[in-house]
Amino acid sequence: MSQLLRRRQVLKSGSAALGLACLTKANVFAATPVGKFRTAHIGVGGMGAADLGSISSHPSVEVAALCDVDSTRLAEASAKHPGAKTFSDFREMIDSLGDAIDGVVVSTPDHTHAPAAMTAMNAGKPVYCQKPLTHEVFEARRMREVAEQKNLVTQMGIQIHSHYAYRQAVAMIQEGVIGKVKEVHAWSNKNWGYDQPTLPAAGPVPKDLDFNLWLGTAAKRDFVPGVYHPANWRKLLDFGTGTLGDMGVHIFDTPYGALELTAPNWAKTECRQPTGVGHPERNLVEYEFPQTKYTTKTMKWKWYDGSFAPPEAAAVGLPEGTKLPGQGSLFVGEEGHLLLPHISEATLFPIAKFKDYKRPDVAGEDHYHQWVNACMGNGEASAPFSFGGPLTEALLLGVVANRFPGQPLQWDAKGLKITNNEAANQLLRRNYRDGFEVAGLS
Ligand SMILES: NC(=O)c1ccc[n+]([C@@H]2O[C@H](COP(=O)([O-])OP(=O)(O)OC[C@H]3O[C@@H](n4cnc5c(N)ncnc54)[C@H](O)[C@@H]3O)[C@@H](O)[C@H]2O)c1
Repeated sequence: MSQLLRRRQVLKSGSAALGLACLTKANVFAATPVGKFRTAHIGVGGMGAADLGSISSHPSVEVAALCDVDSTRLAEASAKHPGAKTFSDFREMIDSLGDAIDGVVVSTPDHTHAPAAMTAMNAGKPVYCQKPLTHEVFEARRMREVAEQKNLVTQMGIQIHSHYAYRQAVAMIQEGVIGKVKEVHAWSNKNWGYDQPTLPAAGPVPKDLDFNLWLGTAAKRDFVPGVYHPANWRKLLDFGTGTLGDMGVHIFDTPYGALELTAPNWAKTECRQPTGVGHPERNLVEYEFPQTKYTTKTMKWKWYDGSFAPPEAAAVGLPEGTKLPGQGSLFVGEEGHLLLPHISEATLFPIAKFKDYKRPDVAGEDHYHQWVNACMGNGEASAPFSFGGPLTEALLLGVVANRFPGQPLQWDAKGLKITNNEAANQLLRRNYRDGFEVAGLS
């Protein structure tokens, strides 16, 4: 009997007496006296509010702690979960609560994902972390390694990974409906870029925001209204990952998983010259991936965002006049095309050729509950850091490439280095601000 099965059986037979107990994939048990899976949430406004609602809808979850650097957002979440302890500094929360929490949910801006999630993992906690997994390539590598070393149940917040339409597309590709795949095109017409060479004038920090904690590991600077908090940090180099990091992680998820891709050989971006401030407002990013059992020899991956999206139908091999969705992906196979809009069922081309094709029968699942269940010893998380880490690394290599327009960056994934551009190599990791170092990342 496998260790996992044995652990589950012990859990099943013991759970009534002990309360729900299994907190990690490792053979570690800690009885929770209340019989609940007690969660701590870092970032509870914006997507964090949605994450809090989805996780707390699991019948075994008790929301034990809430943390936000915006006191208004924290108060709104606290009104819904009055029993939860509240904090503005996640380090203090994890430190002081110790064994009183069983799992941590991270829903902060991208630059804080790794510091918050790693602090939780260092304390031995399973983590649900929003996408993209990290802001930097090095952080993604470390998050995967530490999750594996500690055998923790982890999940990246790409909830549509568990949507039936995406699962069905994976099954269709893997059963070979369009043959081996030669190319993937993926796009989002969103624009999370900022082309101005400077930011607007600084202004007062809102009374309800602890801007020093919001900056966290990033260098100190003045507050600029409307530019950082909330949500617009996505556009800026120091905090977000542009449209590729923001939407690419959702839209490339299915091709990456379906084709069982590994690390790219190289990445190259066509965009404006760098400003040192924001991500380009439109990007064309090209990657080459090594062959897998679902692809032809090498495989080209092409990303279009902002006003570059969607691509022209004829340019990607679809019948002229085919209307492409604003966001989605297209698999180009040796025997047909599969178009996967974000988020609905795939269409196969040529339509007449596939009109009698019987789609695989798949079911969707709640991505959040799946993580809670896995933490409690039931089933597995489907987008653990062992999947989300390499996917994020690949995307972030394209984000680094937008600082060197037109230059292919050759990638040595094993050595974690770009082999033909030392300046680009320096962008794979950054120094954390004094006082905000994190073990395993600094
Ligand atoms: N999976 C999805 O579909 C989806 C959708 C939207 C956003 N997201 C992701 O969710 C994350 C948050 O995005 P958003 O749009 O909600 O941003 P946001 O700026 O609107 O909200 C971030 C929240 O985190 C809080 N916060 C910031 N720094 C913090 C810190 N150090 N400690 C505690 N709280 C902190 C902010 O006050 C705010 O409440 C991002 O990673 C984003 O990519 C995912």
